[in-house]
Amino acid sequence: MTHAALINPLRVRQDFSLLAPTEGGARLVYLDSAATSQKPNAVLEAMDDYYRCANANVHRGVYRLAQEATERFEDGRRAVAELVAAPLAGTIFTKNATEAINLVAWAWGLRTLRPNDVVMVTEMEHHSGIVPWQIVAKMTGAEVRFAPITPDGELDHEWIDHTLASAPVRMVSIVHVSNVLGTVNPVADIVARAHAHGALVLVDASQSVPHMPVSFAGIGCDFMAFTGHKMLGPTGIGVLVGRPEILDGMEPFLGGGEMIADVRTDGSDWADLPNKFEAGTPPIAESVGLGAACIYLSSLGLDAVRAHEVHLTTYALDALSEIDGLRIFGPRDPARRGGALSFHLPDLHPHDIAQLVDEDNVCVRAGHHCAKPLMRALGVNATARASTYIYNDTDDIDALVTALHRARAYFAR
Ligand SMILES: Cc1ncc(COP(=O)(O)O)c(C=O)c1O
Repeated sequence: MTHAALINPLRVRQDFSLLAPTEGGARLVYLDSAATSQKPNAVLEAMDDYYRCANANVHRGVYRLAQEATERFEDGRRAVAELVAAPLAGTIFTKNATEAINLVAWAWGLRTLRPNDVVMVTEMEHHSGIVPWQIVAKMTGAEVRFAPITPDGELDHEWIDHTLASAPVRMVSIVHVSNVLGTVNPVADIVARAHAHGALVLVDASQSVPHMPVSFAGIGCDFMAFTGHKMLGPTGIGVLVGRPEILDGMEPFLGGGEMIADVRTDGSDWADLPNKFEAGTPPIAESVGLGAACIYLSSLGLDAVRAHEVHLTTYALDALSEIDGLRIFGPRDPARRGGALSFHLPDLHPHDIAQLVDEDNVCVRAGHHCAKPLMRALGVNATARASTYIYNDTDDIDALVTALHRARAYFAR
């Protein structure tokens, strides 16, 4: 028995109403989980139950309903912290991963970076790992440098080491798993090398936390960002994990209610972590949903989730390679990549691919995937991308391949 047998996608699909076959037997082949995952009933039910039975604002009420709401909200935080081995005080809820990275860029970067300091990002970052640093670099006089990628879609580690040794790098902001290439970067190793040169490291774990065991403590980074909606949870909630000793020394990002200890006419004092970075009413139902998502993922087992991904990626790499002229981006070794698989067909525009395979109920994404510097490095304007998750099986890959042949035949007419 292989590890992949530990996840039974047919059984998993029963937990996702949206993936149920229609009365006519048609079924959605959802291959866009890198954009957002579908949500299991356990998540929907937890959020529904919260609104029906426990809705109140948190942290403010002494009545029992408000205490119940606060408990459910904080249970969500505990589930998230446990999933990624993060300190509870350093587990901060944001709107999404984008806001989590902006929080660090603004609250840490704006006050810390000096002219000519370097923020190292990579060519394979999502725009959310680039633009916040560009904005803050412009305001501080710091410089954003991009670690290049090799032809097979890995980071150029020689360039990274050379730059760490020769430039005043203060922050390395790096994606764990690329949403385009699928590349799994050796983040723990990069953290050790960056720390040796005095730089802090932010890991964008948006595409790794949903798919594999990820430990904040194990990676050893200073900050980690991820987003609820890609890991079976709702939209509207993201997570920044930070080392409490660094967060303690930072000024708040946003000001308002919830994040204060005292407000006077001559100034204010900040609440303890994590509330100091959670201004205003937080995403309460979303925390409840995200907590349920973490419990669901843990019940499947993240090792099994990852083994299933490697199994499907192996199958997909083989199946897609048989299509004449199809170019696959990123590492060829399934063990070195996640479940996002970008490809290019010389005679078909990615948008035509996405539109035509949709006629066969196959959902794939087309475009620049919020990674324009990477598109330029790859020499393309856009790619088509299929991305798998726990509810996909090899039948879904076969459906994609059949739909691609049909799309090609349509244009050859
Ligand atoms: C690697 C990576 N980082 C960050 C993000 C941004 O996530 P969000 O839009 O939820 O902030 C994404 C979303 O596609 C992503 O793939």
